[in-house]
Amino acid sequence: MTKKLNTSVCIIGAGPCGLLLSQLLANAGIESIVIDRKDRAYIESRIRAGVLEQGTVAALEEAGVADRLHREGLPHTGFDLAFDGDRHRIDILALTGKNVTVYGQTEVTKDLFDRRFAEGQKFHFNVEDVRLSDLKSDTSTVGFQQDGATVEITCDYIAGCDGFRGVSRQSIPSDVLKTFERVYPFGWLGIMVEKPPVSHELIYANHANGFALASMRSETRSRYYLQCDLDDHVDNWSDEAFWEELALRLGPEAAANLQTGPSFEKSIAPLRSFVAEPMRYGQLFLAGDAAHIVPPTGAKGLNLAVADIRVLARGLVEHYRSGNDQHIDTYSETVLRRVWKVERFSWQLSTLMHQFPENSPFEKRMQRAEFDYLSQSEAASKSIAENYVGLPLE
Ligand code: FAD
Ligand code: DHB
Repeated sequence: MTKKLNTSVCIIGAGPCGLLLSQLLANAGIESIVIDRKDRAYIESRIRAGVLEQGTVAALEEAGVADRLHREGLPHTGFDLAFDGDRHRIDILALTGKNVTVYGQTEVTKDLFDRRFAEGQKFHFNVEDVRLSDLKSDTSTVGFQQDGATVEITCDYIAGCDGFRGVSRQSIPSDVLKTFERVYPFGWLGIMVEKPPVSHELIYANHANGFALASMRSETRSRYYLQCDLDDHVDNWSDEAFWEELALRLGPEAAANLQTGPSFEKSIAPLRSFVAEPMRYGQLFLAGDAAHIVPPTGAKGLNLAVADIRVLARGLVEHYRSGNDQHIDTYSETVLRRVWKVERFSWQLSTLMHQFPENSPFEKRMQRAEFDYLSQSEAASKSIAENYVGLPLE
């Protein structure tokens, strides 16, 4: 037996993208159903991004889920770039008039889930074998298996918010979809520890042994990363080995304040730049990691996902309120223009701050010259700062 359901917008993926879209639609009285192949507890525990642009905070405020963020988030007015022991502070507030907020993706997701559950959002978790059909007709269908039963949702629109490995992007015919990709020859080994951060601001460091990042989640919880080989494994890294290497890469000044302890999360993530075009096919819209990936240097992944949703929600709300399709019709080109600029920034900062195995002595000197230029030029620092705090939506 097939269970048949109907809604206005079927949202595939209950990550930050899908949850925020369902909240913004609900605020405008538009019904949606959200499906995910995992459950709430699993999604809430995925440790990922940590730095929110002002535009992201504004979107969460607009959605009505920013109260805890304002109480617990840490406003940051600058960050440090370090190169072989030399440090340069990018004063983002002085250079742009804006700041960023340190608040974990786990917390953003919890806040969104709390609100969606309180408001009775329809969710289907642990779904399998998700299939999208009739994307070019007025009514599209999302079919899946859940608890051994077949479910079919008919809807006006499908929002593909199912991340890089989701099914939505793969449902666009290959002769329509163009993809662009760069895979970096290293990964990031990340740990979380219940200790105060080494510095009250973030430090991005390029050392001869590789990149290191000192970040945080709160005044008592730190997040650190080390560049590692792609075939490396967390089991190769005891906490002691991690602390020793981190201290070396951050340099003696920072290392003097490093508070070490047992890590409670340790994982390796690969680095990738990826864009899929177009981000709309018929009634299907792609948003967030389903359409694009940035390397994490610069903290753009989550922010870019939220920017897509702001544009998509505006278009869908306009469609249902007034029948005006101007914004949904231009969704793909509007967001892709910004996506490519953010891809450029994340690629540039990654290229500056990592040790690339293939780099010649010439390219190493170019990295150093770029750092020296940044340290002395307000114009160059301002360019980094305006990207870091977030480019305008359009
Ligand atoms: P996701 O958060 O990936 O959510 C997609 C959802 O879709 C998931 O819940 C998934 O279970 C679900 N799904 C997948 N396939 C299906 C399917 N077939 N059917 C139904 N549901 C499905 N960004 C930063 O800015 N800083 C960081 O430090 C950082 N670290 C990261 C570390 C890792 C390991 C990863 C993977 C990403 C990281 N990012 C980071 C990027 C950031 O977390 C993402 O950009 C952000 O999560 C994108 O949100 P999203 O909602 O588009 O996708
Ligand atoms: C974090 C991750 C990033 O990629 C970044 O640029 C800054 C902070 C973090 O996880 O805290």
